[in-house]
Amino acid sequence: MELVEAISTRISARAFLEKPVSKSTVSKILDHARLAPSGSNMQPWHIHAVTGQVREQVIEKALAYAGEHPVGSVRQEYQSPPEAMVKPYKSRRYECGMALYSALGIDRKDKEARAKQLIQNFYFFGAPVGLFFSIHRTLMPGQLGDLGIIMANIMLLAREHGLHTCAQGFWQDVQPAVREVLDVPEEYYIYNGMAMGYLDQQHPANKMKIQREQLEQVASFSGFE
Ligand SMILES: Cc1cc2nc3c(=O)[nH]c(=O)nc-3n(C[C@H](O)[C@H](O)[C@H](O)COP(=O)(O)O)c2cc1C
Repeated sequence: MELVEAISTRISARAFLEKPVSKSTVSKILDHARLAPSGSNMQPWHIHAVTGQVREQVIEKALAYAGEHPVGSVRQEYQSPPEAMVKPYKSRRYECGMALYSALGIDRKDKEARAKQLIQNFYFFGAPVGLFFSIHRTLMPGQLGDLGIIMANIMLLAREHGLHTCAQGFWQDVQPAVREVLDVPEEYYIYNGMAMGYLDQQHPANKMKIQREQLEQVASFSGFE
């Protein structure tokens, strides 16, 4: 698959088929993704890939943890998104939520339906594979960008294998549960998760329409002929 095709067919998938993904496929993806650049080649990432029983355990523990610490109620040391949001980010974020609810036929005021959709995050939206990205706390926030690069590599390599993904900042809110199941030491911060699997093409969540700003709005060119 051409890189441009991988970029343009990648979406944040929020419904997957039950079809499993083999260890060899996941390791091929991670083996190429690890070639990502990083500041001074520090490679400040650790990736946990889970499936099967371990995935179930993560889900179970995370749901139990969230029962006592509702998602969004605990302030994270690295708050993403930040509490005070300015234009145009606040409105883009709002529109993103609205686009998802509209694809799912959820009314903006229907708190229960919105909460149900949030809960899908715990289940990796039905994806058979979950990935977790952790970083040594001493490298935050400076090297978080490096994690973004390896995550992007994974998302694009996944396309080459016929797979889809969804990055999940969501997991930051239930870190203690993930930490316990995967034995992640306290000095590591669990920055993000990612769902990976085969796309459920028929599911309305995957028909969400999301726009990007035009090039002139996000890039400036200086000194060119
Ligand atoms: C770092 C990061 C964290 C994200 N966290 C979540 C998440 O927790 N739950 C979710 O449903 N989508 C999550 N997303 C998906 C974004 O909402 C999505 O990338 C954005 O709306 C653009 O849509 P697209 O990926 O389909 O192009 C995340 C994306 C990124 C890059």
